[in-house]
Amino acid sequence: MTMDFAELIKEVPKAELHLHIEGTLEPELMMQLAKRNGIRIPYTSVEEIRQAYEFTDLQSFLDIYYAGAAVLQTQQDFHDLTYAYLERAAADNVRHVEIFFDPQTHTERGIEFITVLDGIHGALEAGKAQLGITFRLIMCFLRHLSADEAMATLDSALPHKSRLHAVGLDSSEVGNPPSKFTGVFDRARDAGLLTVAHAGEEGPPEYIREALDLLRVARIDHGVRCLEDSALVERLVVEQIPLTVCPLSNVKLRVFDTLEQHNLRTLLDAGLCVTVNSDDPAYFGGYIGDNFLQVQQALGLDASRLQTLARNAFTASFLPQDDIARHISAVDAVFDSA
Ligand code: HPA
Ligand code: ZN
Repeated sequence: MTMDFAELIKEVPKAELHLHIEGTLEPELMMQLAKRNGIRIPYTSVEEIRQAYEFTDLQSFLDIYYAGAAVLQTQQDFHDLTYAYLERAAADNVRHVEIFFDPQTHTERGIEFITVLDGIHGALEAGKAQLGITFRLIMCFLRHLSADEAMATLDSALPHKSRLHAVGLDSSEVGNPPSKFTGVFDRARDAGLLTVAHAGEEGPPEYIREALDLLRVARIDHGVRCLEDSALVERLVVEQIPLTVCPLSNVKLRVFDTLEQHNLRTLLDAGLCVTVNSDDPAYFGGYIGDNFLQVQQALGLDASRLQTLARNAFTASFLPQDDIARHISAVDAVFDSA
């Protein structure tokens, strides 16, 4: 059997480890929810929304992203948002997801934490039953807000910790280093939660070191700036700390000017545990399959590198070892028959 790269990428079982559920809000659903909830948004059509998605850096995206989230009001809204993502993921043969949500984006607007959690988690359970996609839920703190506000968010979350697997850190990176949240992450780990953090997207390699040393993260989200520090790269390779890389996001937010200039292939060839993810696919122009295909084409990735990327996503996941082994066998079977 001969398979081209597009087919191979479509067929291979995938895990997505860096996905903000609020970043899957497609313009169509945004319009529909604005209408359903009587919320005013500064757009009159889906086309107008899409045209507004021209970003110059992370902050220019975050401003629009937080404004768009205002249409999310009820448990049903969060359910519909999440289930729509899972259906889209199923079409890309995604078998496992570990998704982020940002409770503070919603509690700041007067939406109850439990409304958000029940909506998202209920949809994840439905997706597991109906689409066979397993999941982990990761609660992120908005790093542009204070450590006290993060701690208050953790307080409201801990009674529901059985539905959470890890905490993470996102939003405006530069000027908000991981060290700002050491106490919050200590408390989360004491409560039995794992930790991850966005670091080295726009921020310096030092933020990656802080995330490892102070927040004790199991993975680094993005991490692409690690290449500026060779000793750090060596450590990340030795410890096999996964990097959840998001190629289309990095180009949209101008971390790299073009996909051809992306360092994913260099990271991979350095022996880092790189994974491919979509970050905020409704805003960045592509889901995980699009990220795989476009980066394969731009960087000329061969089948062996694609296989490594697909395997890495399961290795880097929070699944039990026997599930990881089963998924990796399924990945290998697709490549063996290609
Ligand atoms: N970086 C930081 N914060 C975010 C991102 C990101 O890529 N996406 C959603 N929130
Ligand atoms: Zn992200």
